[in-house]
Amino acid sequence: MRWIKIFYTVAVFVTLTIFIYNTHLTKYLRAINQSKWKTSLPSRIFNLTPFLLDDPFAFKQMFGEQVILYIETTDSVNLKPRDVCSLESVTTFNPTVPVIIVVTVTNHTSDQLPFYNSTSFQSLMNNTQNLFVAWATIPDIAKDTILEQFLFNDTRILNSKYRPAHVGDFVRFLLLWKLGGVYLDFDIMIFKSLAPILNLKNFVIATFSNGVINAAMGFERHNPWLNLLMNRSQTNYYPTYYPSTPQIMTLTLHYILNISFNAGAADHMKSQVNESLHIIGSKTFFPFDYENVVLAMFNTNFTKYMEKAFETHYGIHTWNRRTGYIKVEVNSSKPLAVAARKFCPRTISLAGAFF
Ligand SMILES: *[C@@H]1O[C@H](CO)[C@@H](O)[C@H](O)[C@H]1NC(C)=O
Ligand SMILES: *[C@@H]1O[C@H](CO)[C@@H](O)[C@H](O)[C@H]1NC(C)=O
Ligand SMILES: *[C@@H]1O[C@H](CO)[C@@H](O)[C@H](O)[C@H]1NC(C)=O
Ligand SMILES: *[C@@H]1O[C@H](CO)[C@@H](O)[C@H](O)[C@H]1NC(C)=O
Ligand SMILES: *[C@@H]1O[C@H](CO)[C@@H](O)[C@H](O)[C@H]1NC(C)=O
Ligand SMILES: *[C@@H]1O[C@H](CO)[C@@H](O)[C@H](O)[C@H]1NC(C)=O
Ligand SMILES: *[C@@H]1O[C@H](CO)[C@@H](O)[C@H](O)[C@H]1NC(C)=O
Ligand SMILES: *[C@@H]1O[C@H](CO)[C@@H](O)[C@H](O)[C@H]1NC(C)=O
Ligand SMILES: *[C@@H]1O[C@H](CO)[C@@H](O)[C@H](O)[C@H]1NC(C)=O
Repeated sequence: MRWIKIFYTVAVFVTLTIFIYNTHLTKYLRAINQSKWKTSLPSRIFNLTPFLLDDPFAFKQMFGEQVILYIETTDSVNLKPRDVCSLESVTTFNPTVPVIIVVTVTNHTSDQLPFYNSTSFQSLMNNTQNLFVAWATIPDIAKDTILEQFLFNDTRILNSKYRPAHVGDFVRFLLLWKLGGVYLDFDIMIFKSLAPILNLKNFVIATFSNGVINAAMGFERHNPWLNLLMNRSQTNYYPTYYPSTPQIMTLTLHYILNISFNAGAADHMKSQVNESLHIIGSKTFFPFDYENVVLAMFNTNFTKYMEKAFETHYGIHTWNRRTGYIKVEVNSSKPLAVAARKFCPRTISLAGAFF
């Protein structure tokens, strides 16, 4: 009898919990089909707050175990064809993985999303079931994290001339901290399925000549290494140095793990520290050094190298900050155009004469 009583008590409790939880969910997420995220265009544009951002269970229920996150923190930016190209390539090769662009806004309004009137982005959004746009304010993203004080009250970052970029560095940490997933910069064109990388779950990338970079990384929610990297990046923050965060990540891991990131070292690392951190090398998105990236994308002598990279690498970090102003004719045989025609045909077809 006692066991039956316990059984019923537990059953009632569980049912109630599920009921309350679902009611709660439905209230916020009615627009979005819960069991499947393949859904209509309007419901793929949604507010990340107040519910999803701080409720990992709801977020997982919505999107599953794996998500790819992009972050847009600059006001009034228009997504350029090259950014849209990256999105097209990543969504094409990872059709079962939700790709979510998180736009940081000052107000909770969706009609102001700054880049939604770019034709190539609209077209991609209209035609891609696994592409989402979510918005949130930075205070909401930082709420209840160790970076809250820092982002809003620390004069070092408030007065930094690189403030938007540096805030972007911290926001990507915070979204991974709260949601878990893989973060990618907009300037990484993808050549194939990222499943092997996604399955690592917790990783940073060390490149041949740059140490650890933060253009791409993955972490499960509340990963302790991520906590450490956030802590150090804040404590040692260097406002006048553009790559402050990647530099601190590199030094932190160097000191703690006693591994060298000198030229080439990272590429030779099998580099599984443990399940909560993998350090992987240039084979990911760096077929060319930063020093050679301009040649690699715009000189026809490198077209063959680029085509080889389609096989050997997961994609290419095009470093748009350095190369974005250089345009190629869409039908040219320059490496960038060859890659774009292959990996983002829709975007290229809408780009006009130059890309
Ligand atoms: C956001 O809201 C504040 C206060 O309500 C208002 O002053 C501001 O103009 C709004 N900004 C935008 C971009 O709508
Ligand atoms: C996009 O929106 C901005 C601001 O609302 C506007 O100035 C611009 O003309 C729009 N661009 C296009 C292509 O519609
Ligand atoms: C995308 O879909 C919206 C809503 O259906 C429509 O208004 C818009 O014209 C479409 N844009 C493109 C480029 O297909
Ligand atoms: C960062 O870590 C140090 C020591 O590991 C700790 O004393 C400090 O409180 C942490 N800072 C934050 C903001 O969590
Ligand atoms: C910033 O500092 C002010 C004054 O000390 C405080 O009231 C406020 O809560 C702080 N903001 C954050 C986000 O911690
Ligand atoms: C760090 O690594 C170097 C070379 O791999 C080794 O010689 C040294 O003993 C290590 N230091 C510690 C503290 O483990
Ligand atoms: C991973 O390695 C770090 C550093 O060696 C260690 O502190 C941590 O406990 C390890 N985590 C797991 C899950 O083994
Ligand atoms: C490609 O290499 C050849 C032979 O080295 C050289 O003559 C040519 O100028 C190069 N082309 C470009 C576009 O740099
Ligand atoms: C590029 O080539 C395609 C296919 O041959 C053609 O339809 C398109 O008009 C060309 N674009 C430009 C800008 O020349």
